[in-house]
Amino acid sequence: MRQAVKSSYGHRPLWLAAFGIALVNIFEEQHGILELMPLLGAALLAAKSNPDVKFGGTLLSTLCAHSPQLLFPTFISVLATIVLSREDPYYAISSGIVVFPLIAICFFSIRGSSSAGPLPFDDIHELMGRLSLRVSMILIIFIFGHILIAGPFIYQTIPVLGLALAKAGFWYFVARTIHYASWSFAPYVQAFGVLATRNPFVQTSDSQAVLYVISSLAVLVQVVLMVPARTKAKLAISAFALLPLWSYTTNMAAIKAQQLSARSSFVSSRQHPISALVETSERQFEDLIRRQSSNFTSAYNNYRSKYHADPPPGFEEWYEYAIAQNSSIIDDFDTIHKSISPFLTLSGEEFVKMMDSAFVVEGSELWLCRYSGAKRQTTCQHPTRTNDRHITLSFDRLLHGIGSKLTDIKFLVNHLDEPRVLMPPFQGEGDKAAMQRQLRMVHLSHQPTYDAITQFCSAQHLSEPVQSGEKEQTYELPFIQNFSSSIDLCLHDEYRKQHGLLMGPVSMRLMQGWAPILSTGTLSTMGDILFPSPAYIEDEFQYDSLHDPEWDQKKGSLYWAGSTTGGFASSNDWMNYHRQRFVALGQGLEPRRYSYLVERYGQVAQEKSSFLNARLFEVAFTRILHCETIFCRSQRFYFRTKSWADRNKAFQFKLAFDADGNGISGRFHQLLASNSAPLKQTLLREWHDDRLIPWVHYVPVSQGLAELPEIVSHLTLHEHGQIMAKKIADNGKAWSRKALREVDSSIYLYRLMLELARLQDPERKPL
Ligand SMILES: *[C@@H]1O[C@H](CO)[C@@H](O)[C@H](O)[C@H]1NC(C)=O
Ligand SMILES: *[C@@H]1O[C@H](CO)[C@@H](O)[C@H](O)[C@H]1NC(C)=O
Ligand SMILES: *[C@@H]1O[C@H](CO)[C@@H](O)[C@H](O)[C@H]1NC(C)=O
Repeated sequence: MRQAVKSSYGHRPLWLAAFGIALVNIFEEQHGILELMPLLGAALLAAKSNPDVKFGGTLLSTLCAHSPQLLFPTFISVLATIVLSREDPYYAISSGIVVFPLIAICFFSIRGSSSAGPLPFDDIHELMGRLSLRVSMILIIFIFGHILIAGPFIYQTIPVLGLALAKAGFWYFVARTIHYASWSFAPYVQAFGVLATRNPFVQTSDSQAVLYVISSLAVLVQVVLMVPARTKAKLAISAFALLPLWSYTTNMAAIKAQQLSARSSFVSSRQHPISALVETSERQFEDLIRRQSSNFTSAYNNYRSKYHADPPPGFEEWYEYAIAQNSSIIDDFDTIHKSISPFLTLSGEEFVKMMDSAFVVEGSELWLCRYSGAKRQTTCQHPTRTNDRHITLSFDRLLHGIGSKLTDIKFLVNHLDEPRVLMPPFQGEGDKAAMQRQLRMVHLSHQPTYDAITQFCSAQHLSEPVQSGEKEQTYELPFIQNFSSSIDLCLHDEYRKQHGLLMGPVSMRLMQGWAPILSTGTLSTMGDILFPSPAYIEDEFQYDSLHDPEWDQKKGSLYWAGSTTGGFASSNDWMNYHRQRFVALGQGLEPRRYSYLVERYGQVAQEKSSFLNARLFEVAFTRILHCETIFCRSQRFYFRTKSWADRNKAFQFKLAFDADGNGISGRFHQLLASNSAPLKQTLLREWHDDRLIPWVHYVPVSQGLAELPEIVSHLTLHEHGQIMAKKIADNGKAWSRKALREVDSSIYLYRLMLELARLQDPERKPL
């Protein structure tokens, strides 16, 4: 019997088959990807069908030599492989590298053998041998290259190879023990398993769902053909065809039911909460525009009454500049005021001293910058770094048109993208106040930070009443009604378990004390001084209308792709980080109940359902990073990752999601400028907060995401919801052309520099 096995496989194909199995297993183990499984079936069939392969012959040449018999399985394998890799162009290309030479060579050999004339090549086997050797080499280089890129060689490759070889060995022994069953049987069975059980509820398009059904049925036919005749099992196996058909049908039925329900709700006089929120917010926005000063006297008086202080020296020139640049916002700079006002209680001298002592703190990760108005130049220094992440470039560019109107100004800029400063509340003069100004650096990387960051909450909230303002009927779905209270950490204890920055930030060097530090984004309780992120002038984040189709040409679903930044995964807590929770929801990875609003007999109510329409979500991670090896692996398995995504892809969709990373998201302005409607989830304050109105310029999304399925289904399926979505997209675009121009950042920065100049004026006395 052992003899029979040996001769029916031949030595070389057997080894090559084992190698092929190992390769497939590497992909399976490392990426949870089974795309190559069907191809392996074809390869093994080929290995089996030719017992005596010449030296230099390989699986490929035997496959081609027997191509007429193997045509059907090859076709099925190719189809199944392509269907499985549709979710990822990178793997489609990599399976293409295997598939296309195969098809080409088979095509030639069929033509060669069916015609009576001579073969197109003198010795087809020799040619195949050489060709397939090259194909194999390419594959090996490709796969090893991929493993190398994927992570540090030593950590990733050895366990992966070990696992893959162990699995290959297992298969080998299984096959040797039960050698009546064909080796080639197993991959087809497994391929059918993968295809037929791929959840139709997670397919992002109809055609993809149909292709899964077709290819799983084709593979099943192949399995049935391979079962020896006269076996009763044939019928039983055929019955498995019901599996893909049944799950496809139920999925289509659920989608139709949801469409019907979304369309037929809120058709009466009753308003969907989104429409109500849009209406109210539009009034707020009109109010914002209307109240801007139209002359200097009014701007001056507004400053005084809003901020209870005189404007800084140079304010009139700033006003002239802002008016000359048609600035839509003249009075509303609460963001600047909130961050600089505590420092007015220090004298100019003390302020400079604070700055200097913050800079010299060991590992402070700060840039000490000087802007020279006369030279129109910023120079920055850092104790160890040279690359300033475009800080100098950004200040020089934004302040270029202002130049000599500014004096020489010194300031600190945060090198990290995370917020930094936690200021104890001002408690009057005296020893206690001096203590507060003592700087302390707390290293909190990879640790929970919520308690540290909210330690002064009770003091802060003594003076502020808890949120007021009118409320819309939202049927208990957490639609954001008030942005500033939605990001208020003091009001939301649950955020301690919902955001990477609060659960396990990547660096988080908290400066506790009164440090005037410029950052691009910060948390509600923190005291960083906000400036426009240098990311907004980087090429990568520029809006280009060339890649932005008109509204009607966009797909009616929600898109997001990005990496796992936002928190460092050093335990299974990554499941609760903000980006991971969002992707898990969008990919339907957790069994959970989603809430929808439905209208029955004139009554609107929340309805819970386990159904999430995956056609409305196209979200994925493209890179898994900031994680310990084991948690990188678990994430790679958990999520359906994409190896790559075109950075303009978001514009193909009507709804484009935007989420925090380690800090603010540089993509937001680009999305606002586009013809798509941005959905924004954030905990961070940013320089533009005074001028962007949620529900007018973008759709705000809560940290808990409970209302997201309803938002997406209403904005894409409901007639009035679609109108709202387009309106928000148009409003955002129009406003971004007026209020988020580069010169608007300049106007903001100019005003901030005036405030900083006043703060550090050695003559200034504390308030
Ligand atoms: C300046 O504008 C305010 C309202 O914005 C107006 O009441 C006032 O009369 C204006 N002053 C001058 C001098 O035009
Ligand atoms: C400001 O608006 C006026 C009138 O709309 C226009 O003529 C001028 O060019 C604009 N200036 C700038 C700097 O955009
Ligand atoms: C939002 O809530 C804050 C308090 O958190 C309150 O001061 C503010 O007025 C509210 N805004 C609106 C528009 O209701």
